[in-house]
Amino acid sequence: MKILVFGSLNYDYTYRVEHFVKPGETTASLELMTFCGGKGLNQAIAVCRAGETVYLAGIVGEDGELLIKTAIENGVRAEYVKKKKGKSGHAIIQLDAAAENAILIHGGTNQEITEEYADAVLSMFTEGDLLLLQNEISCLPHIIAKAAEIGMKIILNPSPCNDMLLDCNLHAVSVFILNRGEGEYFSGTSDPQGIFSYFQREYPNASIVLTLGAHGSMCLKDGKIIAIPAVTTDVLDTTGAGDTFTGYYVSGICRGLSTEAALSRCSKAAAIAVGRMGATSSIPYESEL
Ligand code: RIB
Repeated sequence: MKILVFGSLNYDYTYRVEHFVKPGETTASLELMTFCGGKGLNQAIAVCRAGETVYLAGIVGEDGELLIKTAIENGVRAEYVKKKKGKSGHAIIQLDAAAENAILIHGGTNQEITEEYADAVLSMFTEGDLLLLQNEISCLPHIIAKAAEIGMKIILNPSPCNDMLLDCNLHAVSVFILNRGEGEYFSGTSDPQGIFSYFQREYPNASIVLTLGAHGSMCLKDGKIIAIPAVTTDVLDTTGAGDTFTGYYVSGICRGLSTEAALSRCSKAAAIAVGRMGATSSIPYESEL
């Protein structure tokens, strides 16, 4: 079984601030840090640090060499990542004194994925292979349709939630991994039971993994709900913690772990990630768990 992450690669500009900038306000940041990130790259590295072989597909701009280098240096198979004219995606991340963040993304070349490119990448994969997707690239509806046609098992982290998702055939998704806000986007409620009821009704064949931050995580699979507490820790920067969780969950699926074992591994990995700065830089190796 091969694993493909088809997603975004971003340069993350993290600005430490006393408080998030308010409308109409100009404020000075206390510090600027630059990291490699993007949900696609982060999740690919998380799958890899969890111990699996993973392929990454996505498009960077002429400035994207460091993003590709970071993927390769972390053991990700990056031969399908393409370079195109233009600027890579980037994220402007405000990180406040309470370690909360506010993220503005600019898609750049992440929004240049075409059907031709997607078809060329997906033609290298076959029935039963795993495809991990997020919602930071163009062409997502086509990628889902094509992967379903091939018979790949599709895992979707629908982040960030926006109306692009409405054009996707979400019935082709086998596993949804989402946080409470994303659950609310779909179901209209932030109550975990309400979120599960919505997905059970709309997507009865899918399993749902719901991350609840300090309240741990839950999974609805085969009509059974399993809940795992979070590992308590000091929080420095939550950027990339959800991606760490997602990557480790995909590794758990690949290894055939029980839901409890997979979730508990994810909780440990995410707890380590929130205690470190940055996105790709914060993801732990399996040996650290
Ligand atoms: O999930 C965290 C990621 O979201 C950051 O690395 C940033 O690039 C945005 O894509």
